[in-house]
Amino acid sequence: MRNDPEPSKPFAAVVIVRPRTDHGWTIRPFRPEDAGHLSKIYRAAVRTLATRSYNFDQIAAWLSIAPESKDIAAIYEAGRTALVCESNGMPIGFSDHDAAGHIRFLYCHPDHARRGVAGGLLKALETSAQNARISSLTSEASETALPVFTWHGFRMVERREFVVSGVTLHNYAVEKRLLPISPTASRKDPLS
Ligand SMILES: CC(C)(COP(=O)(O)OP(=O)(O)OC[C@H]1O[C@@H](n2cnc3c(N)ncnc32)[C@H](O)[C@@H]1OP(=O)(O)O)[C@@H](O)C(=O)NCCC(=O)NCCS
Repeated sequence: MRNDPEPSKPFAAVVIVRPRTDHGWTIRPFRPEDAGHLSKIYRAAVRTLATRSYNFDQIAAWLSIAPESKDIAAIYEAGRTALVCESNGMPIGFSDHDAAGHIRFLYCHPDHARRGVAGGLLKALETSAQNARISSLTSEASETALPVFTWHGFRMVERREFVVSGVTLHNYAVEKRLLPISPTASRKDPLS
């Protein structure tokens, strides 16, 4: 969850395709036609999953900054490494990182929650970032997402409070230092 617009930085996307038959889902690169689905996943996730940690006014404020389809398309086509988790050909979750290792979005459709979708995306992002010689991943995790980040080795740096549409919200700056890979090592499969 971000409270400020972030300029996208050009960054060559790493192509990642590997079926995960054990979970029934696949993680693959973002395609322009995904944007509408991802905007809907964002809204559904906030309306449903985030209510565990945020009150009605906070959810309404969060939804007021939900990206439209065109916003997601513009952000992801500008150069982030953006990954989509799909099941039966339909997007069910998504995330991304930029050239500095900053994760902007991490969202899972409520119908597929708590099945490792977000964890799978974080693992894939980590390998993608290592392959790109990025030294750390960072994000601003919602209260709902914090356990997922920490389970996957992120450190909580600080609690942040900010105001959206007149309502105070909070999230957590999180960071994970990545182990450098040897310059001579071949690129790892992001899902291995
Ligand atoms: C946060 C969010 C992306 C998590 O998606 P998810 O696919 O359900 O997450 P996962 O299944 O990978 O992990 C979820 C849970 O399993 C736990 N977990 C993950 N791997 C685990 C493991 N191997 N063993 C035990 N627990 C594990 C996590 O701590 C988390 O616990 P919880 O269900 O008690 O909260 C989703 O809830 C969401 O979209 N929330 C609303 C929007 C939001 O807050 N987005 C983040 C903005 S920064």
